[in-house]
Amino acid sequence: MRSMPIVPKFLQGTVNPILKKIVRSTLYTTRYNNSLDIRLNETYLRYQRYCSAQYASRHGLQDFGESRIRTHSAQIFPKVMPADKARQYSSVISGFIENNKELVKIDDKHSSLLKTIKHPLQTMGTDYLEIFKNPALHQALLAFFHGDYRLEWVSAFRTLPSTHIASSWNWHTDANPPYSCKVFLHLTSATAETGATDFMTPADTAAYRRAGYFGDQYGSERMGDQGIQEFAKKHNLPYRPFHFDVSAGDVSLFNQNFLHRAVAPRTGYRDVMEFFLLPNPVPWDEQLAKDGIDSAQLRVPLYPKNPRRA
Ligand SMILES: [Fe+2]
Repeated sequence: MRSMPIVPKFLQGTVNPILKKIVRSTLYTTRYNNSLDIRLNETYLRYQRYCSAQYASRHGLQDFGESRIRTHSAQIFPKVMPADKARQYSSVISGFIENNKELVKIDDKHSSLLKTIKHPLQTMGTDYLEIFKNPALHQALLAFFHGDYRLEWVSAFRTLPSTHIASSWNWHTDANPPYSCKVFLHLTSATAETGATDFMTPADTAAYRRAGYFGDQYGSERMGDQGIQEFAKKHNLPYRPFHFDVSAGDVSLFNQNFLHRAVAPRTGYRDVMEFFLLPNPVPWDEQLAKDGIDSAQLRVPLYPKNPRRA
């Protein structure tokens, strides 16, 4: 759920207002579904076409079908991992928090909301990557990428009850490049009570953008429940967030460039393994074997300027 402003906070006041207006125009956001730099967007679109062509050269031209995360923002895959196995991973996180604090990262900004496990591919093993062998999930990813994909990074985190809401817990779009998405493997159940992510549809996201609400990398305007409801009322917009109730072992896939917000659980905690995916010319496991697990460690910036790997 983390989203990193592409323009550092101390520079946000200096962003060129004309440029900002262009990248927030309906024409621009319809094409790229973000408000990033046009060179970066075009680099990613070119790269996706290259990866897609590589896939077609190996498998022939395919009809991948419609990607549900383009039409509905998010999609759920029940029971991709056995529930008890998912809960075991959640126990591993509890163990780290209690006994191995050096493996746990607590970000100052989110200290009451979030605990992150450092480098889970190293500290929690790699068995859980088998979820990407699930045919329904793989098919949905092919439909989104129109080709193969790689694990750009893997993270694991626990969200906690807190009344102090910040950053990703407000309504926002991640402002990530086109053809990127996130997979969540749920290690605990999550409902409206226990921290299920809230989403808006692509159509509602577009309506909010037209009215001037982006919740993007320019920062300042991200609103919580009350603020966004006032904004909706003022601009005569629908406010109809949706979420999925999930159980341990379920997977959700989402397009983080549509409006969404993290929700703090009211009780207990919510554990998730998070995978950020980019297009790739060869399958993810081949790429990971080549580059090693350190290549998929969570880092900043969250995506490369040039997505092509050597
Ligand atoms: Fe996010």
